[in-house]
Amino acid sequence: MTLEILADAEHLAARAADFIAGVINEKPQTTVLVATGNTPMRTYAELERRVKAGELDCSSATAVQLDEYLGLPEGDPRSLYGWMERAFVRPLGIQRVIRFDSALEPHSACARFDREVAGVDGIDLAILGLGPNGHLGFNEPPSGPDAPTRALTLTPESLSSNAAYWGELEVPTRALTAGMSTILSSRRVLLLVLGAHKREVLARALLGPLTPDLPASYLRDTNLTVLADQAAARGLT
Ligand code: F6R
Repeated sequence: MTLEILADAEHLAARAADFIAGVINEKPQTTVLVATGNTPMRTYAELERRVKAGELDCSSATAVQLDEYLGLPEGDPRSLYGWMERAFVRPLGIQRVIRFDSALEPHSACARFDREVAGVDGIDLAILGLGPNGHLGFNEPPSGPDAPTRALTLTPESLSSNAAYWGELEVPTRALTAGMSTILSSRRVLLLVLGAHKREVLARALLGPLTPDLPASYLRDTNLTVLADQAAARGLT
């Protein structure tokens, strides 16, 4: 595991964009598992800037959806795929996407997702945020390392952290997530962590026991790079 501590969100975004661009330059057909949420947004904006400036070409990469709410009508503003499309897929000029098909019933959507991920030989790079309760994607505690791609009910912590995204709109209570097994078998994992409110959960993820009660702790068994700002990393070293 590598831990890098950056001064603030802006420095973290620049470093994360360097990391992701490095992976894509090395293998243009990279398959990237893409978190939404607030943490990676500046990073994606920096990648967009580089693409627009002609410094980076992401057109051969494949973007893979990490998670999605269940039960939303087509075109609902809360769709996590919609967020990923606006923040990552379109601005980076990505042509190929693997996503959860909301027209299918959940079990079939998960089975198809797993088949498509297997069909591209798995994930080269997982870009992840850290849930306030240690979730990865929507692998809520308890989730062990073998937890499959599945439908689940969100915990109260996730409902309240996700409420910040949607203003007056309610947070859907059910979701689909790429399984822990998919995330942990990624060839590289980039975990981005910002803010003092993530300090305690980050310390537990990096220093505490490997436990289903903190799914992010299992990242230590992967080829992991953690980029954290000083506020999140204080007390770690
Ligand atoms: C988002 C996702 C979540 C977030 C996590 C952190 O697709 O899968 O696991 O990465 O909840 O969210 P932020 O970055 O908003 O603190």
